[in-house]
Amino acid sequence: MSISNEEIAGLVRSDSVHKRVYTDPELFQLEMDRIYGQAWIYVGHESQVKNPGDYHTTRIGDQDVIMTRGTDGKINVLYNRCPHKGAQLVAQGDGCAGKFFRCPYHAWTFKLDGSLLSVPLRNGMEGTTFDKSHPDFSMRPLARVDSYRGFVFASQSAEGPDLVTFLDGAASSIDNLCDRAPEGEVEVVGGVFQVMQLSNWKVFYENLHDTMHAPITHESSFMAARDEAQHLGEMPFELLIMDGNGEPYEFWEKLELRAYKNGHGYMEAIFDPAAATRDPVSRAHFESLAAVHGEEKARAILGMNRHNTVIYGSGSPHTVFQQFRVIRPISVNRTLIEIQTFRLKGAPDSVFDRALTYTNVINSPSSNVMPDDVELYRRCQEGNMTRGGEWVSHHRYAGTDKETPEGTVSVNGTSELPMRNQFAAWKQYMLSGNSAQSQE
Ligand code: FES
Ligand SMILES: [Fe+2]
Repeated sequence: MSISNEEIAGLVRSDSVHKRVYTDPELFQLEMDRIYGQAWIYVGHESQVKNPGDYHTTRIGDQDVIMTRGTDGKINVLYNRCPHKGAQLVAQGDGCAGKFFRCPYHAWTFKLDGSLLSVPLRNGMEGTTFDKSHPDFSMRPLARVDSYRGFVFASQSAEGPDLVTFLDGAASSIDNLCDRAPEGEVEVVGGVFQVMQLSNWKVFYENLHDTMHAPITHESSFMAARDEAQHLGEMPFELLIMDGNGEPYEFWEKLELRAYKNGHGYMEAIFDPAAATRDPVSRAHFESLAAVHGEEKARAILGMNRHNTVIYGSGSPHTVFQQFRVIRPISVNRTLIEIQTFRLKGAPDSVFDRALTYTNVINSPSSNVMPDDVELYRRCQEGNMTRGGEWVSHHRYAGTDKETPEGTVSVNGTSELPMRNQFAAWKQYMLSGNSAQSQE
C-alpha cells in the first residue's frame, strides 16, 4: 500500500475529516485489512443456524464467510473457500448442508468445522505431499469466534481484546434487547431484507446518530403521516413512527448521545416509554415480563429507552423495536444492508407484529422512511466525488463532550460527538498494523 501512516493521520482532525475517507478505493482496501481484518464483526445470530448442518453465508469486510452449526452444536465461522482449487464452497444464502459440506467442483468433503473429511480417488494422492490432516487441506476457520447472548461475532485477527471488552458499553444494548424477552432470548424471524446503498459504509454509521437531519431529510414522510393522521382523526403506530422525525430542534437538543470505545455508541430513543405503556401491545409486553421478573424489574427493562445503537464495523441494533441493521461494505461506494427482525421469546405475538411493522415502515427496501436517507447518502457520495471542496465538517459541539466512566456524553443531542468518536476509532485502527494480513 502506498498510503503512509502520516497521510492517514492527516485525514482525520478532531472536528472534521478529509473527503478521501469516503472516496479513495485504496483507503477502502486498507480498511478491509486494518478494520475488518482486525475488529470483532457481527456474523449473524445463532437462531439463523438452529440445527446441526445449518449454514448462513455473509461477508466480513471483503471476505465471504460461512456460519454453520456443527454436530456438537458449536458454531463455526469459516472462509467460504475450498482448499482444492479455491472454489467458493457454498452459494450465497442460507440452508442445511446435512452432515458435511461437499464441494460442487470435485467433491472434496468437509466436516461442519471445516476439517477435510474425504477426497475422491485417494490413490492418485498417495505418494504426494498431500496430507489430509494438514490445515492447508481443510477449510480455514476465522481466527476467533465468540457469541454474546446469541449474537455471533468473528475476528480475522488472533490478537486484540476479547469480545466483551471490544463491545464496551454497546454490550448493554444487546443485553437490553435480550432482557426484553421474558425468556431472556431472541431469534431472527421472518427473513432478512437486503438493501444496496450507493455510498460509502461510514456515511450510514454517521447518520444513525445524526439528529439534525431528521426534520429535514424526512419531511416528506412525516408530513404525509401527519396529513393521514388528521384525515383518520387518530395517530396509529404506523404513522406515529414516521411522525417522530418531525419533532422540532428543541426536542432533539434534549436527547442524550453516548459514545463508547472502538467507535460504538447509542442515541436515546425518540418515543416516550411512559406513553408506550398506555397502548395495548406495550401493556401486554409489560405484563409478560412482570410475570417472570416482577413489576419493578419489568419497568426497569422496558424503561431503558434507546434508539439506534452503533456497534462500529457491524451495524446498528435497535433494542425497542427489535431490529439489527447489519452494515456490510462492498466497495468504496457500495454498502449492503441486511435488516434482521427479532422475536422476543416468551413475549406476546403482538410485540413481534409491532417489530415487523417498524421494519416495514422504517427500514425495509419499500419503506416510507429509509429511501429518504439512502438518497442523501448517495448525494454525499456524489458530492464528495466532485472538486467542490476537501473537508467534511463534524464541528457541532466539538470540544464540549463530557468524559464519564460510562463513556463520553454529549452536552446537547444535536452534537456531532458520534461522528468524531467513530473517526477517532477509524484513525486508531488505520494506524495500527495489527491485522489479518500481517499475521499470514
Ligand atoms: S475446487 Fe473444491 S473439490 Fe476441487
Ligand atoms: Fe434518517
